[in-house]
Amino acid sequence: MRLSRKFQKLVSRDAAESLWENACRWTHPVSSRQILAGIDRTELENLRERYPYRTNARKINAYEDAAYWIGVNVKRAQDLWLDRSPPLDILDLGCGAGYFLYLCRLFGHDGLGFDTDEEPFFHGTIEFFKVRRVVGRIEPQTPLPDLGKKFDLVTGHRVCFHRLARTENGKWLEWTPADWEFFIKDIRTRFLKPEGRLLLEFNRRQDGSSFFTDELRAFFESQGARIFRWKALLGADPNRCPRFKQTQKL
Ligand SMILES: C[S@@+](CC[C@H](N)C(=O)[O-])C[C@H]1O[C@@H](n2cnc3c(N)ncnc32)[C@H](O)[C@@H]1O
Repeated sequence: MRLSRKFQKLVSRDAAESLWENACRWTHPVSSRQILAGIDRTELENLRERYPYRTNARKINAYEDAAYWIGVNVKRAQDLWLDRSPPLDILDLGCGAGYFLYLCRLFGHDGLGFDTDEEPFFHGTIEFFKVRRVVGRIEPQTPLPDLGKKFDLVTGHRVCFHRLARTENGKWLEWTPADWEFFIKDIRTRFLKPEGRLLLEFNRRQDGSSFFTDELRAFFESQGARIFRWKALLGADPNRCPRFKQTQKL
């Protein structure tokens, strides 16, 4: 990378926000090593033998790599101050292997996952981590099934339920702002407690650009979202911009 580009990156907004995020984490450190010591990593790796990669499935995301995924999820928990907030009711949409919910439990929260049952390996890890999961599918313009309670925090990490199909040019056909509006309203009115929050974390697009195109950024902001890096945080009340830091019981 040329020096000028490096410098550009260094002073870019993302670099500044990344620095801020790291500084905040540094104020309340969490030891991934200590957490890893409580996980039987051999048993987790053995699960891969019982649930081998599906044919045609890409072999990225080696979810048996506990060291990597605990590291990722410790940062997620720190960014939402879950390591030092009072016990919360948390719903994790597209919970995948269950690492985030496992950490939520370690930090004293009551977590529930929601995911399709398409990945057999996740079946094994969800059992391994002893986290609770409801099987279902998030569909555009369709209310989520009733889960019998409301939550302080609803999360979706590396969201992909908004991707509908790949188009001929390889790009994803994805939810429109109207689909997002329906989903956000459903979560706000049926799943969030009055002071609850919805956190959506997005992958970069294939070309490396942000999920937040100008149109989507404007849309999420019009919904009252606080956008930070690749994350959108929304409160139950669309007129109040929520905070990542959560220290008081809701
Ligand atoms: C990229 S993985 C992320 C897993 C986990 N949240 C993480 O960050 O490690 C996306 C997850 O969303 C789930 N998912 C995809 N489409 C979904 C849908 N329409 N409804 C519910 N879950 C879905 C997948 O099964 C998968 O577990």
